[in-house]
Amino acid sequence: MRRKWVGGNWKMHGSRAMASALVGAIVEAKTDTVDVAVFPPFPYLREACAACAGSRIAVGGQDVSEHESGAFTGEVSAAMLRDVGCGTVLAGHSERRQYHHESDGQVAAKVAQALTHGLTPVLCVGETLDERDGGRMAEVVSRQLGAVIAHCGIVAFERIVVAYEPVWAIGTGRTASPAQAQEVHALLRSQLASDDARIAGSTRIVYGGSVKPGNAAELFAQADIDGGLIGGAALQATDFLSICAAAG
Ligand code: PGA
Repeated sequence: MRRKWVGGNWKMHGSRAMASALVGAIVEAKTDTVDVAVFPPFPYLREACAACAGSRIAVGGQDVSEHESGAFTGEVSAAMLRDVGCGTVLAGHSERRQYHHESDGQVAAKVAQALTHGLTPVLCVGETLDERDGGRMAEVVSRQLGAVIAHCGIVAFERIVVAYEPVWAIGTGRTASPAQAQEVHALLRSQLASDDARIAGSTRIVYGGSVKPGNAAELFAQADIDGGLIGGAALQATDFLSICAAAG
């Protein structure tokens, strides 16, 4: 039985006050039956880590450099995230792939950096609407996942969370139906299984894209959906916590 995982990706929202109130409410709540992570903007990470210390809530960055250290203005390394208390990090979110042109190779290098520094990478994959409509969904997600398998090895997936996030469902209010999401999750799991069935059986594959309190339970009830990566609904403690409850 895979333990469910729910992450809140705040994107570029909030303030110090909002971050502290939101993290405070999540730490207070009883979410022990599910693994919960929050991904605040970089400037709020340190305080969030302090607030979550001693709890089971993990804190993570929304991105990480593919480099170890050096002259990379604006970048944040995996070692730095670890240094301020992070336990996890997003890699290859579609907004990074789309607006910052992150390639599959860069995303794989980011996952490798995270692993080297003891962070749980949350590897995001997903197709655009054009790709889905053009019948290329399977090719795109398998290429994105395959790049990380090739770079990091299948054994790394004992420590990686995979997030399937169809780009057309992110922030659009348009959710993949439970059956549509399940189809892709099963595909991703079978790709992992072709390298190692045991690891494929234990890797958490979570869904992201307009998950709300009203649709979470049905999505999480699918055989291969092990939780969710939540954007908009992660900005309200009550919504986020009710999604966590749907996973628990
Ligand atoms: P959304 O975002 O829940 O607002 O669609 C999900 C994500 O981008 O991780």
